[in-house]
Amino acid sequence: MNAHTSFPASDFFATMRQRQWADASLQAMLCRGVIDETHDVKTFVFSAASDRMFCFNAGQYVVLHPTIDGAAVARSYSVSSPPTRPLDLHVTVKRTPGGLVSNWLHENLRFGDEINIEGPRGSFKLDGLPGEKPLFLAGGSGITPLISMLRTLTDRASDLDLRLIYSARSPRDIIFRSELDALAARFPNLAVTYVCSKADPSWAGPTGRIDGPMLLRLVPDLGDRTVYACGPEQYMKALRDGLGQAGVDPRGYHEESFGGGLGGAARDVASAVSSSVHFARSGLEHRCAAGETLLDAARNCGVYVPTGCQQGVCGTCRIAKLSGAVAMHDLGGLTPEEKSAGFVLACCSRAQGTVLLDL
Ligand SMILES: Cc1cc2nc3c(=O)[nH]c(=O)nc-3n(C[C@H](O)[C@H](O)[C@H](O)COP(=O)(O)OP(=O)(O)OC[C@H]3O[C@@H](n4cnc5c(N)ncnc54)[C@H](O)[C@@H]3O)c2cc1C
Ligand code: FES
Repeated sequence: MNAHTSFPASDFFATMRQRQWADASLQAMLCRGVIDETHDVKTFVFSAASDRMFCFNAGQYVVLHPTIDGAAVARSYSVSSPPTRPLDLHVTVKRTPGGLVSNWLHENLRFGDEINIEGPRGSFKLDGLPGEKPLFLAGGSGITPLISMLRTLTDRASDLDLRLIYSARSPRDIIFRSELDALAARFPNLAVTYVCSKADPSWAGPTGRIDGPMLLRLVPDLGDRTVYACGPEQYMKALRDGLGQAGVDPRGYHEESFGGGLGGAARDVASAVSSSVHFARSGLEHRCAAGETLLDAARNCGVYVPTGCQQGVCGTCRIAKLSGAVAMHDLGGLTPEEKSAGFVLACCSRAQGTVLLDL
């Protein structure tokens, strides 16, 4: 055989591995296109600036790091494309009224622009094959990790009994509707139900907010299903209550929250006492101004803390607290074990007195 045409399998897999982007590092990505999904949602399509393939689990998210008005910022976005299509990475972003990054992306990010993206991250994953009867529950833009899961399963012609219940404000807010309808038509094992929370004369389908009785009405075999749920924190709370009312076993429940539960009061809460943060490994200390989080304190001292959601959801900014007390307003970003081991989330914790951190 000609030496140039031989390509041993081990070399092939080594080359593939080299080209994989799977190590949670920051990479420059090229925006290859922007797709209008609804009146306030766009999908941004990226490929790696250096020749890479994306290796992740359906359900995971990445962190976008745009520079806006000279300041580096970071926000988390679930990957909406499936890992079965590894050449491109899609994120689907809904405009948040008054929000910095979502509006900036909609207004500024164009074909050919470069942006730093970090990832993949997150433990919300369709790892291997799920239970035989997965139920996907999406609220608003929470469809994004779930469409990645559904695309993965249908790309692989899964014959699992798949159900999606997708809650949106109104018919015009349903993202990926034509694709979901086409998938349900093509795969008889996939049933899709849309629920609109606002009454709408053009809508003949189910209306209202998700609760236990509605879930049981829509999915009578709820108790037999493995649930994958995602949405804003208010929706997730209603869902947890509803699933609890319906008696669903929490062991069959997997969720991702997009946050959104921190109102101004939680963001602006001031420390009741004069506080300071000491960084043990850096040998630095910072006297906190009213309302400053541990993340603000670290940034003010030039101490790097990786971040994702900045809302207490993703757990990226966790730090070991060596001593002192903090007030933490998290949204589930730490496991009970991490909490009892003394970890805190820098983005949503404020020092109460003197705090020593392992940083
Ligand atoms: C794991 C994960 C995955 C996610 N995936 C997606 C996804 O796929 N698609 C998607 O669209 N979103 C997703 N999100 C949400 C996303 O990360 C952002 O939170 C969202 O885009 C809003 O960011 P923003 O910068 O536009 O808004 P921000 O500037 O962060 O503002 C958010 C809200 O807070 C208000 N606000 C800002 N500052 C203050 C203040 N000082 N006091 C009071 N209120 C204030 C704003 O008016 C706005 O309503 C995800 C979040 C997480 C944690
Ligand atoms: S950055 Fe996500 S929990 Fe702090």
